[in-house]
Amino acid sequence: MGKVLSYGMVGGGPDAFIGDAHRRSIALDGRAKIVAGAFSRKREKSMQMAEMLNIDPERCYDSYVQMAEAEGKRKDGIDFAVVVTPNHSHYEICKAFLNAGIHVACDKPVTISYQQAKELEELARQKGLLFMVTYTYMGNVTAKYARDIVASGDIGEIRAVMAEYPQGWLASEDDCGGKQGEWRCDPSQSGGVNCLGDLGTHVENAVAAMTGLKIKKVLARMDTVVPGRILDDNDMVMVEYENGATGMYWTSQFAIGHDNSLRVRIYGSKGTLQWFQETQEKITVISEDGTIREIHRGYAAVSEAAARYGRLPSGHPEGWFEAMGNLYRSFAECIIAKENGTFTADMIDYPTIEEGVEGLAFVEACLESSRNGNIWVDVK
Ligand SMILES: NC(=O)c1ccc[n+]([C@@H]2O[C@H](COP(=O)([O-])OP(=O)(O)OC[C@H]3O[C@@H](n4cnc5c(N)ncnc54)[C@H](O)[C@@H]3O)[C@@H](O)[C@H]2O)c1
Repeated sequence: MGKVLSYGMVGGGPDAFIGDAHRRSIALDGRAKIVAGAFSRKREKSMQMAEMLNIDPERCYDSYVQMAEAEGKRKDGIDFAVVVTPNHSHYEICKAFLNAGIHVACDKPVTISYQQAKELEELARQKGLLFMVTYTYMGNVTAKYARDIVASGDIGEIRAVMAEYPQGWLASEDDCGGKQGEWRCDPSQSGGVNCLGDLGTHVENAVAAMTGLKIKKVLARMDTVVPGRILDDNDMVMVEYENGATGMYWTSQFAIGHDNSLRVRIYGSKGTLQWFQETQEKITVISEDGTIREIHRGYAAVSEAAARYGRLPSGHPEGWFEAMGNLYRSFAECIIAKENGTFTADMIDYPTIEEGVEGLAFVEACLESSRNGNIWVDVK
């Protein structure tokens, strides 16, 4: 076992959702240990979490500002910070850790504006620091293999993409989704978007990562349907890629019966590829002659580059934790390589701040399109 990194977390307090999932995913490989945190804006809640995690009370901070400053100065300071707070706070928090010379992993969407994301990209570059944006789904072995299948030319030249991420948890006007739903539906904490920022950025990233296609322009219709909501809860986006191919993306929060139904269908000149998040142990490739190949994780057909992330034999299902853990596996390998002086950019196998920037460019172009009567808008 090589070096064990140390990390700190901002957010992920006692009743939070994703912070706990990050901690469990990071723990899968034992490559990093949590030693510090500002888990909540409330001192007592933060301390409660620090106690549960056996963190030295001295390293449980009242704010991320204090934490970045103190950890940046310590000889044994954290190697990276994990940012898992509501969207509007990501920018300032990430900036504080980058300025303290600390690598950052932040959940998506990385900021609430393109400008903020660009600034973080530039700051990380200037400081020579790594910046991961945790688009979880690209950590799946089969999602990585989908990327390899498309790149190999197996399904030919891509002609069209159909992708969707419907959920049904905010369908009721009497239920705004508790703690997690409250800030997502509140423009002061979520930015100018809800559904498209929460789910559309996952769609945009999954398609971009699997196909390598760059979006040229979008035409969006973003609707607010459930009574009482202020921000979008159903979005339809037509996409044109730089190679002339087209795409259609749909995200919704009132699609009763759907949970985390991220589905990507890629149509090429020689075949079709299908990847569905809720059945992510397999990938389906359909050839022009009608042959259907269903490839399961854990078999020799999966490319070595993707298969190396598997932890269990086929038939013992892996899932969301493993996907997130795989992002952190690559992130930790890159940080260790940086420390050893052996790092090269081609080692990166996780979504970076550049992908975070692309997510915000997509969101802002969709907003402009929708607000101006569903016109075509170029994506930066
Ligand atoms: N990658 C994914 O699949 C995925 C899934 C869910 C959520 N997310 C993202 O994760 C982030 C958090 O979402 P969530 O659902 O866990 O939210 P949540 O409301 O459950 O948790 C947010 C936590 O941050 C804390 N917090 C807020 N401001 C803080 C501050 N200034 N300092 C310290 N702590 C602070 C809150 O007290 C809470 O503990 C969001 O950006 C969301 O988009 C990503």
